[in-house]
Amino acid sequence: MKSLRKIARNVLLKKRCYPRWVLEKKIFPSLKNKKILLVGVADYTKDYPKILKYNDVTTIDLNPYAAEFGAKKHIIGNISNVKIKEKFDVIIMFGILNWGLDYEEDAENALKNCYNILNNNGLLIIGWNPKKENHNKINPRTLKNFRMFQPIDLFGIGSGNIIKGDFIFEFLIRKD
Ligand SMILES: C[S@@+](CC[C@H](N)C(=O)[O-])C[C@H]1O[C@@H](n2cnc3c(N)ncnc32)[C@H](O)[C@@H]1O
Repeated sequence: MKSLRKIARNVLLKKRCYPRWVLEKKIFPSLKNKKILLVGVADYTKDYPKILKYNDVTTIDLNPYAAEFGAKKHIIGNISNVKIKEKFDVIIMFGILNWGLDYEEDAENALKNCYNILNNNGLLIIGWNPKKENHNKINPRTLKNFRMFQPIDLFGIGSGNIIKGDFIFEFLIRKD
């Protein structure tokens, strides 16, 4: 039986941080058995490798001090230029665009790099907030390399739509 603490966290998360609730409760469970690269870690994401126990999870963060929050397989590096030989089924960039990935050229390179390390028909998920104050506002759809991907609808949310909490998910399939 779920502990009361877990239930309370779930209710609060849905109410106060709906996009993260979507990530944890809708997106993660749908990715069973996929090989996943999670971009950017923090203390509040340190349990993600445990939640994704049916997945092969790698994490990456450019900040070496964030490594303690990463998965067993963790890379210290920048998603814009890191060289990885492995390929992934899914790459998740939640809270990265305009949260460290702040310049158009870097964002273009990140899309290209994700393309290169995704399997054919692999899925790139970008979660970003178009209204966050004091942050750049790069819209992934204005990037040239966005065309390397096909947006698809998932979870009844749709790619590129604003959801509760002024947040946008892009669900992008790597074109062959
Ligand atoms: C908002 S925090 C955590 C994001 C996390 N994915 C989440 O679910 O909230 C952003 C983290 O992403 C990292 N980051 C920002 N830009 C990055 C990049 N280009 N490559 C790798 N990590 C990056 C930062 O160092 C920071 O630790």
